[in-house]
Amino acid sequence: QQLGNAASGKLTIKLWKVSERDKRPEGYNLKDEEGRIKDISTVTSLQVPVLMPMDLMVEVSPRRVFANAHTYHVNSISVNSDYMTYMSADDLRINLWHLDITDRSFNIVDIKPVNMEDLTEVITAAEFHPHHCNLFVYSSSKGTLRLCDMREAALCDKHSKLFEEPEDPSARSFFSEIISSVSDVKFSHSGRYLLTRDYLTAKVWDLNMESKPLETYQVHDYLRSKLCSLYENDCIFDKFECAWNGSDSVIMTGAYNNFFRMFDRNTKRDVTLEASRESSKPRAVLKPRRVCAAGGKRRKDDISVDSLDFTKKILHTAWHPNENIIAIAATNNLYIFQDKLNSEMH
Ligand SMILES: *[C@@H]1O[C@H](CO)[C@@H](O)[C@H](O)[C@H]1NC(C)=O
Repeated sequence: QQLGNAASGKLTIKLWKVSERDKRPEGYNLKDEEGRIKDISTVTSLQVPVLMPMDLMVEVSPRRVFANAHTYHVNSISVNSDYMTYMSADDLRINLWHLDITDRSFNIVDIKPVNMEDLTEVITAAEFHPHHCNLFVYSSSKGTLRLCDMREAALCDKHSKLFEEPEDPSARSFFSEIISSVSDVKFSHSGRYLLTRDYLTAKVWDLNMESKPLETYQVHDYLRSKLCSLYENDCIFDKFECAWNGSDSVIMTGAYNNFFRMFDRNTKRDVTLEASRESSKPRAVLKPRRVCAAGGKRRKDDISVDSLDFTKKILHTAWHPNENIIAIAATNNLYIFQDKLNSEMH
C-alpha cells in the first residue's frame, strides 16, 4: 500500500470565503484614490464617499485553518447537509469537525491496525449523503464501499452496508487489486445512487443493492493490455475523480491524453472529448474523439493507443449543480465548458 506521509504537507484544511465585488468606494476624506494618507493641511472640505461601479472582481480570503488532526494525506473533505459540520478523511482515519471549531475534531472511523504490518487496506475517499446528515460513505483500496450511520455509534467502525462486486476469478491478475482500488465516490443529487471510479471503469451503485453495481462504464478498456507499462511508469496509481450532472442522468470522468468521458445513463451513449488549447477557443464546439485499440479498425482522426500521452491526465472534474457547465483541470490549465443551445458541448 502507498501511504501518504506528513512530509507532503496535505494535512491542513482551510476554509475560504469566495465573494464577488462590482463596486468600490471613492472620495475618501483622508485617503487619496491609491489609498495613501492625504496631507491633512490640504483637506479643506468634507465629502461623502460614494460607491462607484467597477469591473466584477472575485475575491478569495482565508477564513479558518483546521490543523493537527491528520497524520496521513487528506484525500477527501465533505461538508454535511446540516451545513454545521464536515468530515475529512486520510488513509486510515475519518474525522468529524464543527465548521466553527478549528482546534478539535471527533474521530468517526479508524482502520489503523494495532500492528502496521497487518495493514491491507486504506481509505481512498469519503462523502456525506446529500440529504441525511447521519449517513456517509467511504471507499477503500480493495474496491469496497462502506455506508455508515452516525446514529448507530460514535465510532463508525461497523458499517451499515458494504458494497462490493465479487471478483471474476478468470480475470484475476497481478494488477487486479490495484485496478479495483476506488479513487473517488460521489452520491447522486437524489441520494439514491453512488458513483465510483476505479482505474478502468466508472460504476453506478444503487443504495439498495450491495451485491453488485447497477451500471458499469468502460472508461478506457484499451488500456487493459497495457497495465504492465502503466505499472512501471506509476500511472496505474493515478486517482481519477468522477461527477454527476445536475439531474443524475449523465456521468463524467477523466482519462489520459487530456481526454474526458461522458456517459448518458438513459441512452447508453458515450463520448470522448478533449480539453486542449486548440479545441477550446471561445465558442468553438468540442469534437468527439476516438481512440482506436491495437488491432482495431482505424478511422480518419482516430488516435491510436500507442500515441496517447500519459503525462496529460484529467484527474479532477466537476459539474455545476444545476446547469450544464463543467470544469476540467488539465495539468496547469482549468477549462470551463458550457452547453450550447442545441445541447452540443462547446
Ligand atoms: C443532464 O444531462 C441531460 C442529458 O444531456 C440533460 O437533459 C439535463 O438537462 C442535464 N441536467 C442538468 C441539470 O444540466
